[in-house]
Parts: sequence; structure tokens; C-alpha cells
Amino acid sequence: MKQITQAAELQAAVATAKQQGLSIGLVPTMGALHKGHLSLISRAIKENDIVVVSLFVNPIQFNNKEDLEKYPRTIDADLQLIATLGADKILAFTPSVDEMYPQGQPSEVYHFGPVEEVMEGPRRPGHFNGVAIVVRRLFDLAQPTRAYFGEKDYQQIAVIRALLEQIKYPIELVPCPIIRADDGLALSSRNMRLSPAARAMAPAINATLEQAAEMAEYEEVDDVKEWVLDTLSTYHLVNAIENLQFEPEYFEIVDAKTLQPISEWNEAGDLGAVGCIAVWLDGVRLIDLVKF
Ligand code: PAF
Repeated sequence: MKQITQAAELQAAVATAKQQGLSIGLVPTMGALHKGHLSLISRAIKENDIVVVSLFVNPIQFNNKEDLEKYPRTIDADLQLIATLGADKILAFTPSVDEMYPQGQPSEVYHFGPVEEVMEGPRRPGHFNGVAIVVRRLFDLAQPTRAYFGEKDYQQIAVIRALLEQIKYPIELVPCPIIRADDGLALSSRNMRLSPAARAMAPAINATLEQAAEMAEYEEVDDVKEWVLDTLSTYHLVNAIENLQFEPEYFEIVDAKTLQPISEWNEAGDLGAVGCIAVWLDGVRLIDLVKF
């Protein structure tokens, strides 16, 4: 594995690889790597000649200052982990904020239409614009053949698909399945911030979504939605866990492709429906999803 901190050095390495006709996989991350990231990197290693793994906590995609400050940063451990995966193939790109944004705060504004107007979009103003700016910059620097993103951030994938349609870069977008802990919690860098008590409650999110998938066989969309929200908002009361916040922010059942809410199961198109949730757990915001 080679660590690169300068954009120009990454561009030079990519240019050499391109001249040799090599394929390039890109795995954009914000570090604090877990098995979910490692599954993306392992897949990218299998499918490409070289793999650029970026580790960059992108300040412009955080709409909450405290979330940015508290975002876990574990760069040394991250680099050690990456090195165990495929030392000869990996370029680990770890730029500073100034290196990524040499002109200062970027001013580009993207519009992605309906896919960004639901769920995370209105609740995290500026978030997807910040994601699009950094991902495009990474595309420009790494010029990947394929780019790998985890499906836990389901709406982010739709936004990046829309970005690729706009900028018309010939990059294959590769969505990768959620990786879960043994108790069902979707792996996320933010899980590191959960207190032991909050971590013990967190699997209730996936357990509730799994039950919702069973209910969907015989219940209406609105009834499933209401049941999920009720179950999670009363979970701490039912389980007599008084002092811990456990609060769903939203649960939406949407068409898996357009991300628009549906009110009848048969409104979902070819890809079916997906239920997306955001939950506040003791000050940490977790997202997850279930496919119906
Ligand atoms: O999914 C993430 O970790 C980030 O949003 C990404 C894609 C690395 C951009 O900063």
C-alpha cells in the first residue's frame, strides 16, 4: 500500500496506470474504517488492477458542527487495516482539507431533483451538495473505471447516480450490500460513538425493520410505517430504559429507484420498495434500511 497526501501525486500515479491500460477502482471513505468499508475495498481489489481508497472527513457535507467535530478519526489504524487487504494494489489517498479544496470553500451548486428532495435531503441541508462536490473531485483525481459505495447510504447512491448522469463520466457505479454486526446493527463509523447502553439498544432498529418486512406481506404501506415509528418511539418505555434517547427521525417507504414515497405496494416499480429510517440514539444519528 502506498499512502498519498498530495492531489498532484495521485494524478501522476493514475496517469501512469492509465498509460499501462490498467483499470482503477475508487472507494471513497471518511475513514474510521469497519468491515463494511473492507468489503468494498476487497471487492474493488478483485475487480480492478489498482484501487484508490480515499480517507477524507469532508467538512462541507456536515450540516451539523458537532457531528463534524465528533466524527471518529482513526487514520493510523485505518492505514494498517487497508495494508492487510492488498498491499501491492492500493493507493491510500489521505489529503488535508486545503489539498482537497485549494481555492477555499467550494461554491458549486448541484441540483438533483426529486431524489434529493426526500428523507435526508430536507433534513440535512447542503449535505448532498457537499457529497457531490467531494465525489466529483475524487472522480477527477482518480479517474476510476469503477466506484464503490455502500448501500446503507441508499439515497447517497441515487444522488451519485444522478451526478454521473449530469457530468457524463464513464464510471461504473457499484453499490455494495450493507454489512451488519452479528446482532443485526448496520455497520457505520458512527457506531463507535455509541455508549455501551446505546450500543445494546441499537439492534432494535434492524429487528424492527425485519419485522416490518414480514408485516408488508399482509399490511398496507401506511400501517407498516406507523407500526415502525410507534415501535421505535416507545421502545425505551416498553423496555424501561428511561434515560436513553431512542427516537426515530423519519421512516419512509419509497420506490427503490425514484426514492419517491409510495402509498400502495403496487406503486413500486421494477426494483420494488425500500424502507429508509433515521434514528437518534443517545445523541448519535443512525440510518438503516430494509428492502421490501
Ligand atoms: O459515504 C461516505 O462515507 C461519504 O459520504 C463519502 C462518499 C466518502 C463522501 O465524503
